[in-house]
Amino acid sequence: MKFDNLLFVGFMGSGKSSVARYVAKALKRQFLDTDTMIESSEGRTIPEIFAQEGEPYFRACEKEVATWLAHDVHNTIVSTGGGFAIFQPICECGTILYLESSFEEIVARLNQNELSKRPLLQDMDQARALFEKRQGIYESVAHYRIDGSGSVTQASQRVLAFLESL
Ligand code: S3P
Repeated sequence: MKFDNLLFVGFMGSGKSSVARYVAKALKRQFLDTDTMIESSEGRTIPEIFAQEGEPYFRACEKEVATWLAHDVHNTIVSTGGGFAIFQPICECGTILYLESSFEEIVARLNQNELSKRPLLQDMDQARALFEKRQGIYESVAHYRIDGSGSVTQASQRVLAFLESL
């Protein structure tokens, strides 16, 4: 495969983690999730970090992860939090793949438990506005865009077929 790190970007709930994990397994590459890394190094959940420290602190944690990815990580499939591509110099970290989903699909996929893990997804009007604001940014930072609709298996197979064609 003609890429080093491959980073999945996209809005919250677009299936980045599940699809990236599936793709990593299929390609026998290491898998990392930026949110999971921050939660384990902080020893608390993302809602706790947002509530106790605020969003700027969380973005500073993401920045440390971005620097580490850019300098010390190779041949890895990375799932990023929905704001990572917005706030961090992500192009330095590897090849960027935007997993695209409509806002309606995202909302339909997320149950109450999944919603409760996402501080920026508490108010649906604000979430839609954020989605609309970010869409163009994901498009502009991504090297590739893949349709993330359907099941995890369907979206993952689409990604794998595309990567095969590179
Ligand atoms: C965020 C997305 C979340 C998580 C945090 C902030 C965002 O990750 O990083 O709640 O700014 O879009 P997911 O995209 O995995 O939900």
